[in-house]
Amino acid sequence: MNLIKNICCIGAGYVGGPTMAVIAEKCPEIIITVVDKNINRITQWNYKDTSKLPVFEPGLEEIIKNVRDKNLFFSSDIEGAISNAEIIFLCVNTPIKDKGFGAGQASDLKFIESCARQVAQFAKGHTIVVEKSTLPVRTAETISTILNSSQEGDLLNSKTFSVLSNPEFLAEGTAINDLKNPDRVLIGGEDHESIETLARIYKYWVPDEKIIRTNLWSSELSKLTANAFLAQRISSINSIAAFCEITGGNIKEVSKAIGCDSRIGTDFLNAGPGFGGSCFKKDISNLVYLSNYFGLPEVAEYWSSVIKLNEWQKLRISKLIVEKLFGTLRGKSIAILGFAFKANTNDTRQSASIDISKNLLNEGANLLIHDPKVQEDQIIKELGSKTHNEKADEFKIDDEGVWIKKKTIESTLKNVDAVVILTEWSIYKKINWTKISKLMRHPAWIFDTRSIVDKNEIKKTNINLWGIGDGYTN
Ligand code: NAD
Ligand code: UGA
Repeated sequence: MNLIKNICCIGAGYVGGPTMAVIAEKCPEIIITVVDKNINRITQWNYKDTSKLPVFEPGLEEIIKNVRDKNLFFSSDIEGAISNAEIIFLCVNTPIKDKGFGAGQASDLKFIESCARQVAQFAKGHTIVVEKSTLPVRTAETISTILNSSQEGDLLNSKTFSVLSNPEFLAEGTAINDLKNPDRVLIGGEDHESIETLARIYKYWVPDEKIIRTNLWSSELSKLTANAFLAQRISSINSIAAFCEITGGNIKEVSKAIGCDSRIGTDFLNAGPGFGGSCFKKDISNLVYLSNYFGLPEVAEYWSSVIKLNEWQKLRISKLIVEKLFGTLRGKSIAILGFAFKANTNDTRQSASIDISKNLLNEGANLLIHDPKVQEDQIIKELGSKTHNEKADEFKIDDEGVWIKKKTIESTLKNVDAVVILTEWSIYKKINWTKISKLMRHPAWIFDTRSIVDKNEIKKTNINLWGIGDGYTN
């Protein structure tokens, strides 16, 4: 079994950065170099002021302070890092194709393919190439083909490669804990020695019984399946939330009652505005595409309904806001609390806040947006610059369909007709609604899509409350 001294990670994103930080902390004798073609991102990872790292994750900053420039390096020297490494983790993004065959569903493997070509060109000796990105089943075959073609006709500089699948199961916001205490580590491969070399790194802190070894295709498919099952649970509970609202049930009570059944379990039963994040939609879309590709249209239809329900949830919430505000939002001020796709991350990819904000802007509402970690630039990227009024701090009388970013909760809620809570940040749980009620324009509404508002407190105010899946308040 090879002794690993140097690891290279290609991709310094939400997976590459935190994952390598934890490996560096747990394996101090291994040198880890994280590279990225985005030089700006590398610069940000190297910021002296660690509060400005490109990824916000609780606990990450402390680890970076301890390991950066000791055994963890962020660099744009891709060639150097590849040629020094015995193991290379591929942690690049795998978005959905936006054009051509399979557009909107199939994975775009251009980043993975270009990584494989770089590895093929610069690697030396024997290299273990680890798929950490989430990939369609049988991608390892493509990577192997590219890697092995680099050896053809070059007998002097013979290189060998072993490709492993080692999907990442971390969730944003809890990434550090997920990495330090994983439910399991999955390694798929054909070459026993390489599997054990990789397993040995994890064994620094993960008990061996939690390290599952499978064949390559089971490993690749397990990752897509895990995300599909998780997303399916959210669509299922959101569908029942709508049911509760009409029939007088309460989704929290229903979740608790069904979650007590050990076969169902308590996790992932929180109704919400619809799942966001960079992966659920993309991974299920990929599963749908593959199902059709392999001649399984019924399977494709089954999984596509999970996405359909999720899209419907965002639309349903947008429509009911319009209805409750007398059928028109033109010129009304609405506070948006939370733009990240979940709490404890600065990531906005596929956040329900994007679609719901766009729907409200389209209806002519003026939005005051607050999020403790999402920067204004990021919101501009998601909503477009056209409706952004960067200069104003308050709306003018004839404004319609524009948004401004606010820094404090109090200034966000001043004079608004309604508040839409979209991310479950803990600071929003502590809002004193009795005090805020005096700042709002009445009749005022709270739309609580995360079930974080205390109903009894609201009863003491003259604010109207709509709570997700709560048939009593709605
Ligand atoms: P990301 O977009 O945050 O980061 C990917 C990085 O790869 C980018 O910085 C990009 O510049 C870089 N990159 C792309 N091509 C490159 C190349 N050829 N050379 C060098 N750098 C290159 O993506 P992410 O959220 O970290 O996700 C990465 C993969 O992990 C995806 O496949 C995703 O599905 C999977 N995943 C993500 C999460 C998550 O929570 N975000 C969790 C588990 C798995
Ligand atoms: C998800 C999975 O949980 C990870 O295991 C996986 O590694 C990752 O995708 C990935 O492959 O990218 P992530 O998207 O970071 O992680 O976060 P989740 O906690 O899964 O939340 C996803 C979305 O579902 C969020 O918008 C969240 O608010 C929503 N959600 C989650 C609910 O609406 N209800 C719940 O009960 C749980």
